[in-house]
Amino acid sequence: MPNPTPHHRITAVILAAGQGTRMRSRLPKVLHPICGRPMIRYALEAAQAAASEPPVVVVGIGAEEVKAAVGPEVRFALQEQQLGTGHAVLAAQDSWAGSADLVLVTYADMPLLTGETLRRLVAAQQANPGPVSLLTVRMEDPHGFGRILRGPEGGVLSIVEEAQATPEQAAIRELNVGAYCFDARWLQGALARIPLSPKGEYYLTDAVGIAVVDGLRVNAAELGDPIEVLGVNTRVHLAEAEKAMRRRINEACMLAGATLIDPESTYIEAGVQIGSDTVIWPNTYLRGSTQIGEGCAIGPNTMVQDTRVGNGCTVVASVLEGAVLEDRVTMGPFARLRKGAHLAEGVHMGNFGEVKNSYLAPGVKMGHFSYIGDADVGPDVNIGAGTITCNFSPDGKKNHTEIGEGAFIGSDTLLVAPVSVGAGAITGSGSVVTHDVEPETVVVGVPARLLKKLERGD
Ligand code: UD1
Ligand code: CA
Repeated sequence: MPNPTPHHRITAVILAAGQGTRMRSRLPKVLHPICGRPMIRYALEAAQAAASEPPVVVVGIGAEEVKAAVGPEVRFALQEQQLGTGHAVLAAQDSWAGSADLVLVTYADMPLLTGETLRRLVAAQQANPGPVSLLTVRMEDPHGFGRILRGPEGGVLSIVEEAQATPEQAAIRELNVGAYCFDARWLQGALARIPLSPKGEYYLTDAVGIAVVDGLRVNAAELGDPIEVLGVNTRVHLAEAEKAMRRRINEACMLAGATLIDPESTYIEAGVQIGSDTVIWPNTYLRGSTQIGEGCAIGPNTMVQDTRVGNGCTVVASVLEGAVLEDRVTMGPFARLRKGAHLAEGVHMGNFGEVKNSYLAPGVKMGHFSYIGDADVGPDVNIGAGTITCNFSPDGKKNHTEIGEGAFIGSDTLLVAPVSVGAGAITGSGSVVTHDVEPETVVVGVPARLLKKLERGD
């Protein structure tokens, strides 16, 4: 008795060699980003979810750029001339013939096709005594798609490309999605039999007709949600794909426990993580490798990029990039964090502040109009309004500022780095600190000079 669940070696082949002329771009089409990722990444991820072997990407136009963007975890096959989708699968033959039982073929310009759908396609082929299964979809607008021809018994007969379709065929609303699962050994023979089309290309879709001519069965799996077949050929499609992907990401975030006040105006890139009971207010952009903890309130009007935010933080109308916020940090409105800003637990950063490459220890308060760059700020330091670390010197160097625990930096203090202010020290309003300040002292003036030593209890 045959094993009902045979173990198949499944190789995914992703076609990405085409030019993408209609994008009118220097960038290869499959590298245009959707929700922060090159679109080919989605096709790769989906294909991987249904395959067992490392995927193969067929590259041609812009091959080097595509290779560099995709990275080393996949194999590449070069299709030097773009002679059609059948020719492209042939170009990859060395990476699947003999090493795979099933070959899953998809196109790199369909970012919304899911791994789940492709697993269904593979399952359809695993249940098929014949050599090929394909995905179909019913849609009112068939523009640009191959039409599925079925026989009187309902079985798939062949695929007719739009350019070759008769008017009756063109009226068919069952369409070829562009994802197929083949028996590998059969495919090898069939590729050699694909004829040259009137357009001078070898169409992979002709393999379907070849199976039928040989009396073999073709299985069709119908797609549930037509949004998955959205293919990107122009920048208009790119925007549609972006919108559909955004909706998908937003829904996943909400189902995982985040509240989006207005999903339509919330822009979360693929790969961003949000903890439960966090509320995202409108016009907020969460980008790159950003991670947000639980119970935060982010936005409105906020951009967070490549930043880790702890639990219970509040960020209003601010821009954060390459930063770390520990728990219960409050920020904004109108605050900016640049690369290397690290705000420890309970830090308060109010309006019109900027922090770059600096550590603000727990409990630091920085309420208004300050710039802190290349500094280490100790616990519970109070940074008065208008404080500036003058970190940049005429020799082009960035100089360090150190502020000790509990120091009180008076309003409008200029700290001319490199410089340190000792623990518990006080600088008077408007002082220009050019020399290190001893702990527990008060300095004032321009340049700041010693006014007095503090006695405990002062
Ligand atoms: C293809 C299908 C069509 C289907 C439609 C769905 C064929 C012949 N037709 O048409 O039935 O309804 O997709 O979107 O397959 N590519 C290569 N090398 C080539 C040619 C293409 O790698 O020589 C790649 C392209 O980069 C692209 C994919 O294959 O990612 C599809 O090619 P495209 O020219 O866009 O095919 P369609 O005309 O859309
Ligand atoms: Ca296409």
